[in-house]
Amino acid sequence: VDWSHDAVGNGGIKPPRHVSLKCTEIFSDAVIVSTRDDTNRTNDAIVSAAETRCFATTVCMHKSQHGVRLNGYIKVLFGQLAALDHNGEVMSVTISDIEQAYSALAKQVVRTPMLNSPRLDALAGRRIVVKAECLQRTGSFKYRGASHALNTLNRAEKANGVIAYSSGNHAQGVALAAQERNIPATIVMPDDAPTNKIANTRAYGARVVTYQRGVESREAIGDSIAKRDGLALIKPYDDHRVIAGQASVGVEISQQCSELGLDDFSVLCCCGGGGLSAGIALVLEAYNTGAQLHTCEPDAFDDTARSLITGTRQTNATETGSICDAILTPSPGEFTFPILQRLAGTGLVASDTEVLKAIAVAFDTLKLVVEPGGAIALAAALFSDQLPDSDTLVVVLSGGNVDPRIFQQALGLNR
Ligand SMILES: Cc1ncc(COP(=O)(O)O)c(C=O)c1O
Repeated sequence: VDWSHDAVGNGGIKPPRHVSLKCTEIFSDAVIVSTRDDTNRTNDAIVSAAETRCFATTVCMHKSQHGVRLNGYIKVLFGQLAALDHNGEVMSVTISDIEQAYSALAKQVVRTPMLNSPRLDALAGRRIVVKAECLQRTGSFKYRGASHALNTLNRAEKANGVIAYSSGNHAQGVALAAQERNIPATIVMPDDAPTNKIANTRAYGARVVTYQRGVESREAIGDSIAKRDGLALIKPYDDHRVIAGQASVGVEISQQCSELGLDDFSVLCCCGGGGLSAGIALVLEAYNTGAQLHTCEPDAFDDTARSLITGTRQTNATETGSICDAILTPSPGEFTFPILQRLAGTGLVASDTEVLKAIAVAFDTLKLVVEPGGAIALAAALFSDQLPDSDTLVVVLSGGNVDPRIFQQALGLNR
């Protein structure tokens, strides 16, 4: 936002240092933008759009201060008007958003290794390179998006606190990122979440509120507590800040593939609401890697794979019934799905038994501890018959917070 001013009859006032914008109404050819500057003055302006994608415009603002009418000019740059959500929030992620997130996160996250093993290559019948996000802080990539979202909060939002809903990994990511910044955090979690995930979230200092998965709506609970207590809601995937943060995994993958001299690769990525997959796909496109991303899901929770086929967001019949607790979302995100529809290849699936085998393979060949939702892309790489032809499969192992009983079950398999 570039603010300049033209004071009428007042000899000029200092331009505000910071102006935040929120779209409050959307029409076919215009949006109403509500602005707030750093002195807390608010104004509404109408921004007309000659086209619905990528435009820049300058609007005249009228502000009133001490009875003197002032004119100011505010320059508004929108990436994609088409990506505004139904609440009028600007919802677009550009490569420059992603690179800004990446540079801020570089000091806060682990640059996780890309690992390989001749035994794993032999099992898969081609070269596999694993992006080990199970070694990320809090045990999953979720810490990236949470940290970036919290990096962007203003002072008042930090003081009031944040709220998130999550089956466990976003919960831990938000809880630790909040604890590190002394921000109070409330997390809404299903009461059937693995006990280690609930315990870790509490240990990072968050207040945990539980709900019944499949019976109550976590979104409704999260929204109502957020409104009641004035908390900033950090959604798990349908949030441009979270997607930009998760996309830092894609920036690292691109760098590491080029360091390894890989030029013909595809990326297999576990998919719940699609924040991680969408973020990585945007980077693969922006950096002209020529690589395509394939989402991976449990076979009975293949909402994204079906949505990619039909072109509209499909839902799952139920929210429970797979060991992959981290990725049992009801449907692809409202914001993430259009990105995946444009950029992702065929959606892949794997069964719970294949996921257990993949957990054991990751342990045997790479000494990695992976949770079911985090192992599904490896299960697809080992067992799917719909894999792309590329020389190398880059497999994202997204989390390691496995329930010890499931891990035991996986290692106990006859293999
Ligand atoms: C380990 C793990 N992998 C994958 C996902 C799916 O992420 P997304 O919702 O961004 O698709 C999650 C979500 O919680 C997760 O915890």
